[in-house]
Amino acid sequence: MHPMVRLSGVGKTFGGTVAVDAVSLDLAAGRFLTILGPSGCGKTTLLRMIAGFIAPTTGRIEVNGAAVESVPPWRRSIGMVFQRLALFPHLSAFDNVAYPLRMRRFPAAGIAERVERYLELVRLPGMGGRRPHELSGGQQQRVAIARALVFEPDILLLDEPLAALDRKLREDMQLEFRRIQQELGVTTINVTHDQREALVMSDEVMVMHQGRVQQSAPPAETYGNPANRFVAGFLGLTNFLDAEVLRAEGERRVVRIGGAELSGTGNVATGARVTAALRAEKLRLLAPGAVAETQFPATVTEVVFEGDRILYEVRVDGLGNARLQLFDHDPEGHGRHSPGDIVTIGWSSAHLLLFTD
Ligand SMILES: Nc1ncnc2c1ncn2[C@@H]1O[C@H](COP(=O)(O)OP(=O)(O)O)[C@@H](O)[C@H]1O
Ligand SMILES: [Mg+2]
Repeated sequence: MHPMVRLSGVGKTFGGTVAVDAVSLDLAAGRFLTILGPSGCGKTTLLRMIAGFIAPTTGRIEVNGAAVESVPPWRRSIGMVFQRLALFPHLSAFDNVAYPLRMRRFPAAGIAERVERYLELVRLPGMGGRRPHELSGGQQQRVAIARALVFEPDILLLDEPLAALDRKLREDMQLEFRRIQQELGVTTINVTHDQREALVMSDEVMVMHQGRVQQSAPPAETYGNPANRFVAGFLGLTNFLDAEVLRAEGERRVVRIGGAELSGTGNVATGARVTAALRAEKLRLLAPGAVAETQFPATVTEVVFEGDRILYEVRVDGLGNARLQLFDHDPEGHGRHSPGDIVTIGWSSAHLLLFTD
């Protein structure tokens, strides 16, 4: 069985700019992939090459086992939703959704049933008569999804379709996209700079930076076991510290940070100067009497109340005055602190991640 989408060394150069650099990928039928990365990292360019709007400078794109270079966009079996939805303003929701069917000369007698079925799928039954301006932002989004899917394409491509929505609606629509994708089983490639969206929606997350793939893995793996410093910094709130590798102890590496010797995890060589990463939520404020594998006294320097959690910044004298950020989700456990308070922070050596790059 060939994958639904296969990219082999796909690259794109604009003048002197390398927008996409030798990206390879196999995506099996029915999977949901999110390409995650900061603005300018090449996500849209990669998606547009798959769609056929841009020709790659190097490499090869196969869909369903066949090279697609010579297939024009409208002949590829691909549905698309972009940030600018480009609904036809003068057409009703029904006619917007019917449009791709009419374009493809779908039998006229079957159109009404098919359109109603897809309006139901996106939870807009009976709303077909409305024009886009008579629909809310979320409803317009749903029309755009129905229009992209109504002709039952092999692949759905999404380029930040949720980026313009406000937060609550965006989070609802993330779950909605996921539900629809699972219901139909359509192979989907989504592009976003929003890490939550990538983690919530996807079977697989491909992190890109400066045109290159940094890591391709399921969401929990990408988050929990980042491949390098960039991925560790892009997903979640992460503290970085300079470290020197002193020796190996079994699976662990002993490093020096500030004046302290600490145990961490990572594929790093003795003697190397590396970066140690500690996620804010892996750092704990210890209640009086509690112990952790590694612990230090620290001085609270900043307190940010975020509703469901408190973000503290602390200074750790024992780590060369390093400033660390940490979340406290359970302030009931040990009271709320103020700047100047002395606290004890702790973590497990499995969570001190060591990177050479
Ligand atoms: N048509 C173009 N001409 C020249 N440079 C481009 C063009 N399209 C994109 N780029 C450049 O390629 C890089 C990647 O852009 P893009 O794929 O849009 O990134 P993203 O979607 O991740 O924000 C950027 O440096 C951008 O300026
Ligand atoms: Mg883009």
